[in-house]
Amino acid sequence: MAPIHHAVAATDVRSPAQEATPYLDALCDYAALTPARLNVPGHKAAPAGDRRIVDALGCAPFELDVPPLLWGVDRGASPTPMERALELAAEAWGAKRTWFLTNGASQGNQATCLALRALGTTVVVQRSVHSSVIDGLVLSGLVPRFVSPTIDTDLGVAHGVTPAAVAEALADAGDDVAGVYIVTPSYFGAVADVAGCARVAHAAGVPLIVDEAWGAHFGFHPELPENALRHGADVVVSSTHKLGGSLTQSAMLHLGDGPFADVLGAQLERTHRALESTSASSLLYASLDAARHNLAVNARVLLDRSLATAAELRAAIRDEVGLDVADEAFLRYDDVIAFDPLRVVVDTRATGLDGQQVGAHLRDVVSVDVEVLSRAAIVAVIGPGEPNDNAMELVRGLALLPPASGPLPDWEAATVTGTPELSPREAFLAPTEVVPAAQAIGRISADSLATYPPGIPNVLPGEHITADVIAALQHCVAQGGWIRGALTDAVTHLRVVRR
Ligand SMILES: Cc1ncc(COP(=O)(O)O)c(C=O)c1O
Repeated sequence: MAPIHHAVAATDVRSPAQEATPYLDALCDYAALTPARLNVPGHKAAPAGDRRIVDALGCAPFELDVPPLLWGVDRGASPTPMERALELAAEAWGAKRTWFLTNGASQGNQATCLALRALGTTVVVQRSVHSSVIDGLVLSGLVPRFVSPTIDTDLGVAHGVTPAAVAEALADAGDDVAGVYIVTPSYFGAVADVAGCARVAHAAGVPLIVDEAWGAHFGFHPELPENALRHGADVVVSSTHKLGGSLTQSAMLHLGDGPFADVLGAQLERTHRALESTSASSLLYASLDAARHNLAVNARVLLDRSLATAAELRAAIRDEVGLDVADEAFLRYDDVIAFDPLRVVVDTRATGLDGQQVGAHLRDVVSVDVEVLSRAAIVAVIGPGEPNDNAMELVRGLALLPPASGPLPDWEAATVTGTPELSPREAFLAPTEVVPAAQAIGRISADSLATYPPGIPNVLPGEHITADVIAALQHCVAQGGWIRGALTDAVTHLRVVRR
């Protein structure tokens, strides 16, 4: 399919009701009543213990930190403030229904995998999904049929999957497929063809699930890509705290208004309940209500500013520092149809330093932290409404990098993978033992191990460990990469299923 060279424009006009923050307001109203609190949490809105936390945070977080099922907040005449907050979130993203999450998008991926198991036993999954999807496979017992993402060999990063690759995987996944699970945008901001993947999944009679952890802001500005729900995804997992502006660990799970809404809605209601704390944090919920309001009402102004900051940053890095910034270059890959302009990916290879060294320099010299430090690149994330001060500090820091000692040696991305023997769940729950790497060859892995870059799991629970896989893991470490999930940095030992 020909790449679409520009992000799809946001479509809708959101209702004036989006001006409200019902859940946040209900918490504030409750706190203003200064009730006698003979319930939990035990800090009673004014912690009697260590004052240091109050000195650090002030009293407000304690006053608004209330237990669940509070009358007038979560309970009472319908719609309760909580019900209204959820309806407004669903409207803002274009969902049939939305659930708030207090254990991140990780919880959303796990709840979705559990829900999908009601539709079948196999799932077509992008190989580079986040580890929480693999945890979801373990919880649900779903058996994966993987689709490989494209690897950007310049930067050593994994992008996304094409509809054609999804169709091929569906064709040989058997009869009992529960759905298709993809992740877009990528960590580096590459956006896949969600509409195309939804068409392919629906033609095969299964739902499309999109882990849109990195795209909470999508669809709120015409210069940003549209969100996955509006492209026909059936379930979307969103890490609202990443780029949506809510507190860390708060996230949302959205149900699309498509052909699977009834069956998935009923399942998600149950699996969300199973995985949500019975004492979910009111502070996290309130921050989701406020972040939704901010995006729905103020997005145009806020994101105008973010986009201007990102554009200034790109230009300064290119013109003043002389480094390359990846953006349109991503579009040469078949699986990338747009990119997130708020992720500024700086190609650091020409400095002769790897991303970790660049990151250490930025911290020490200009006190700047960036989101990603890979071998060949660093990624700066521009938040909603972010002015350009921090971005310009990054430029100053990059300009002060020590002189290049020559380009980095060529990098070989480790994309070798194991072969499945047991389902992730069977292997995860089996008795295990830790053995030296040489003795792990031929054994079944109990863990998930992924080379960074590019972050594709090379071994999953249940996969047969080959000599090639061990060599690829150790080669990655020797080249300055790291292995997510490894027991030791140098991958000297692995956890395997006991024979
Ligand atoms: C693609 C993807 N999905 C899910 C998650 C999990 O999100 P959270 O940290 O909100 O649990 C992450 C976290 O980085 C992620 O990158």
